[in-house]
Amino acid sequence: MIKVLTIVGARPQFIKAAAVSRVIRDSFAGKIEEVLVHTGQHYDENMSQVFFDELDIPHPRYNLEISGGRHGEMTGRMLESIEKVLLDENPDWVLIYGDTNSTLAGALAAAKLHMPVAHVEAGLRSFNMRMPEEINRILADRVSNLLFCPTETAVKNLAAEGVAKGVFNVGDVMYDVSLFYRELARERSNVLRDFKLDEGGYVLATCHRAENTDDPVRLLAIVDALAAIARSMPVVFPLHPRTRKLLTEDGHLDRLGIVKLIDPVSFIDMVRLEQSAQAIVTDSGGVQKEAYFYGVPCLTTRDETEWVETVNSGWNKLVGADAGRITHAFVELRRPESHHPLYGDGRAAERIVQLLLEHRS
Ligand code: UD1
Ligand code: UDP
Repeated sequence: MIKVLTIVGARPQFIKAAAVSRVIRDSFAGKIEEVLVHTGQHYDENMSQVFFDELDIPHPRYNLEISGGRHGEMTGRMLESIEKVLLDENPDWVLIYGDTNSTLAGALAAAKLHMPVAHVEAGLRSFNMRMPEEINRILADRVSNLLFCPTETAVKNLAAEGVAKGVFNVGDVMYDVSLFYRELARERSNVLRDFKLDEGGYVLATCHRAENTDDPVRLLAIVDALAAIARSMPVVFPLHPRTRKLLTEDGHLDRLGIVKLIDPVSFIDMVRLEQSAQAIVTDSGGVQKEAYFYGVPCLTTRDETEWVETVNSGWNKLVGADAGRITHAFVELRRPESHHPLYGDGRAAERIVQLLLEHRS
């Protein structure tokens, strides 16, 4: 029996961890004990608990209740608390996901205690060091013993940094999740009815990246573009708490005009909204890929993306944060003819769990 200590804290991490936890529970019950640590980074009911309930994620043994504050402050508080948990639990593996402050704190705490670290979603790079996520993922990769890459691009990024040992292209756990929930979402979600949306007759938008929300020029350009698109087609916009706070504080919510502003939705509702959208406008990493999984054209309001395959395939277009560019790209949007699997075969989580067992120290 090995003990895997999983560290999560932010919405996308709950979703990724759900895939791996399910495999551990269903296929490796007597071989692996999973201990879940929630840092508390995301804490609203609709940013946290709803995912645990809906995606059957085990109840966290620890909730560190650490959120907010500056980056150093948040990461430092997490580092201190995670270290204590690691000393108490003494796991065989510390399993971290993605590129948030919770990822970095988990990686550092484990590495300093010489505990082996496994990183899911290793090797992604935007090559933009102004993004907090880029710093987090580079440092997390640097101290990881197993690096689970979702794509060949990620493997190459690591190779370019001289990292080859412990690197595996396992596929994307989010693709596993999308296969599991695509039909369930159609059966269970009432979100289209609740918000009076027609199948294929609306645009789905999200926006939360610091590079957009914390720059008023970029944020207002995105707001104006969504307001303009909404004059020709309904736009539904589940607002991340970070974005709601900034738009409210600056008195800009009204500028969204007839855009349907809604609270963050559960995962099943989000999948349903994605599947039936005419197009998606987002700066989210996860949502860009889900747009691809469900064959929906995407406009990404960033200047670069880690998920370059979606752009190369023609399904995703980088439009920056320029109102004119976004609205023009929306008018020009076409569905490419071909759609190939780019993110594995839906068995990434199985490979991850198998590799954790094979490489136990
Ligand atoms: C974090 C990640 C980002 C990821 C995103 C997923 C970092 C540096 N950033 O960004 O990579 O894409 O999560 O959603 O780790 N808030 C609430 N309720 C919540 C959560 C947040 O009100 O449940 C508000 C708080 O005011 C908080 C702010 O949102 O200060 C930002 O939250 P934080 O976790 O710092 O960053 P995110 O923007 O969510
Ligand atoms: N998501 C959700 N409800 C929402 C918005 C997003 O369930 O209201 C899901 C979305 O489907 C994707 C994940 O959250 O799986 C993406 O998280 P987010 O955009 O917060 O972070 P990122 O992927 O950019 O790190």
